[in-house]
Amino acid sequence: MAKYYLVIFLIGATLCASDALKDAYEKYFKIGTCIGSGETTEGAEYIKKHYNSITPCNELKPDAILNQGGSQNSGSNDTPVVAFGSGTKAILKFCEDNNIALRGHTFVWHGQTPEWFFKEGFNSNGNWVSKDTMNKRLENFIKATYELFAKDYPNLNLYSYDVCNEVFQDNGQFRNAQQSKWWQVYGDESYIINAFTYAKKYAPSGCELYINDYNEYIDTKTNGIYNVAVKMKDLGIIDGIGMQSHLSTDFPSVGQYEKALQKFISSGLHVIVTELDIGGNNEDTQAKYYKDLFTVLVKNAEHIPGVTVWGSSDEHSWRGKDHPLLFSNHQPKKTYYAVMEVVGS
Ligand code: G3I
Repeated sequence: MAKYYLVIFLIGATLCASDALKDAYEKYFKIGTCIGSGETTEGAEYIKKHYNSITPCNELKPDAILNQGGSQNSGSNDTPVVAFGSGTKAILKFCEDNNIALRGHTFVWHGQTPEWFFKEGFNSNGNWVSKDTMNKRLENFIKATYELFAKDYPNLNLYSYDVCNEVFQDNGQFRNAQQSKWWQVYGDESYIINAFTYAKKYAPSGCELYINDYNEYIDTKTNGIYNVAVKMKDLGIIDGIGMQSHLSTDFPSVGQYEKALQKFISSGLHVIVTELDIGGNNEDTQAKYYKDLFTVLVKNAEHIPGVTVWGSSDEHSWRGKDHPLLFSNHQPKKTYYAVMEVVGS
């Protein structure tokens, strides 16, 4: 009998002492990573072990899912055609098959969006379309994307989406015509509210809608994001603010970051850390920064549905030379242990 209890105890202790990030943080928030399609095979077991949220790094961006030939043949100047390529499909299937929640990134962005999307006849050499035509294209783009999710991935847990990404300058003003084709066509910021209105109309239930940006901890930008987010909250078309959180050990301080976080939380919206990485040339300093940051995040966990690191392992990072993540060649770094320590694991 004593032996029996010992076995039960050992199994229980093993389960509690999981070294998986997602298990250690289970009662606080989802732990996510961005992945490329190759990682659904190479390193898949390790992704499944540590993360319960995935954002495709590139595979749901407009240039990956808008189809020029199909749009030109659609017979309508208002109806862009959306198609998921093999990379996108691989990630969505991986998430659906393994019950990993998905963050969509992104509909409206100045980057990785083909110029033809804004031109007459979906033709790169065409004239800019009118605001009215662009509104119809925007609505149809969002509608078609959500319809494709529902048709091909009915069991996918699509729990949040970056509807608009990086629409602000650091001074809190909107990106202007030189900086964004969206502004070039609209001449004002109404495309932001329109995008959220359409996303709210077509998103499946349970899919929270986010406005996402970087340098979000710079006061002027914090205020710009906050003001627009509150306006959209009053309209009932937004659920949260995405803090990209591309940080470095020398800037911003964790205190400054926390100030922005508190301001966003005071809006009454959710906050997701969407693209966390922390550069620095000393792993001990990075580990301390990660620990201090996660301490702040855990303290505010009731407002934070998820924290996503922007890359599963340093060699996949867009800031590779900064070694900004929790793993290197899928081996845990000091930064990983620091993050685990916060929750006593
Ligand atoms: O797929 C091609 C490959 O065929 C080609 O051989 C190779 C040669 O350069 O390029 C590959 O495409 C690269 C793509 O990542 C996939 O790896 C692009 O050049 C490269 O520009 C692209 O970078 C992405 C970047 O966004 C582009 O804006 C990063 O992976 C992605 O992590 C990064 O993510 C952004 C967020 O969306 C928004 N916030 C900032 C963040 C970091 O820049």
